[in-house]
Amino acid sequence: MAETTPHIPVLLDEVLEGLSPLPGQRLIDGTLGAGGHTEAILKAVAPHGQVLALDADPSALEIARRRLAAYGDRVRFVNANFAQLAAVARDLDFFPVHGVLLDLGLSSMQLDAVERGFSFQSAGPLDMRYDPNSPTTAADLVNNLAQDELADLIYRFGEERRSRAIARAIVAARPLHTTQQLAEVVARGVGGRRGDRLHPATRTFQALRIAVNDELDALRAALPAATSILAPGGRLAVISFHSLEDRIVKEFFRRESRDCICPPEQPVCTCGHRATLHIITPKPITVTSTEAALNPRARSAKLRVAECMEQ
Ligand SMILES: C[S@@+](CC[C@H](N)C(=O)[O-])C[C@H]1O[C@@H](n2cnc3c(N)ncnc32)[C@H](O)[C@@H]1O
Repeated sequence: MAETTPHIPVLLDEVLEGLSPLPGQRLIDGTLGAGGHTEAILKAVAPHGQVLALDADPSALEIARRRLAAYGDRVRFVNANFAQLAAVARDLDFFPVHGVLLDLGLSSMQLDAVERGFSFQSAGPLDMRYDPNSPTTAADLVNNLAQDELADLIYRFGEERRSRAIARAIVAARPLHTTQQLAEVVARGVGGRRGDRLHPATRTFQALRIAVNDELDALRAALPAATSILAPGGRLAVISFHSLEDRIVKEFFRRESRDCICPPEQPVCTCGHRATLHIITPKPITVTSTEAALNPRARSAKLRVAECMEQ
């Protein structure tokens, strides 16, 4: 993957304030990408603090490894899904940690790499995998799912109201091989509407990317995993880019910050649940208009931070 557009780390100051890394501490970046957040954390924990950096995409690791070469063995790189982050940290004896960062979704480098098939702006293969060894590509879903399954997927993961018409158009045009073919079929299927801010294929592409990479289940697995390896007072920071992700983070933080999670109508607590997190950001932090102008990718970003409680 070429380093075309440099990936600008989103909400960098706010992430640092949220994680509050101090010299000598150990933190995990579950979504290394181009290594922008990791580098800032490495500076904050200098001279001896360490970062364990994970990415599902080996080519992102390669780029970040070159960028962060000067930090030597203060940064460790692992090609893994963040759903596995607690297991990876335990294997490397890298726990408890003072912070975990998840900056979800894809990087500008992945979006710009035509051969990865994330963008509808150019004719790439229908791929969309972060991990090139994972079994399912976007082409597999687009060309093999039944029309109803495709419509459900586009509705669930794209929150696309016109999912049925889109699925019908896709099935009629199969087999599809490129991102541009798919974008054209979707646009023809739904018709552009005057005043639409988004390209008509935006939500369909989001849905396929989420499904191909099983993104929501990975996030659901990563949140308790991260919490389980935080030191008391350690922080978990998550940047999400759409409402499906943000809802999962918000509900997890809410649940883990409560001592009882019994249904409200139940008169006596039987769950035995104890709060593990204290919410630092009751409302998510969003970007300033200056950051949004400099980095359009950041516009929909929401940062939530929680702190691990003493047990
Ligand atoms: C938004 S980018 C991170 C950018 C990074 N914070 C920076 O400053 O350069 C997200 C990265 O997370 C990776 N990623 C997405 N889902 C993942 C998962 N479940 N496990 C591991 N890495 C994942 C992507 O491959 C991508 O490189």
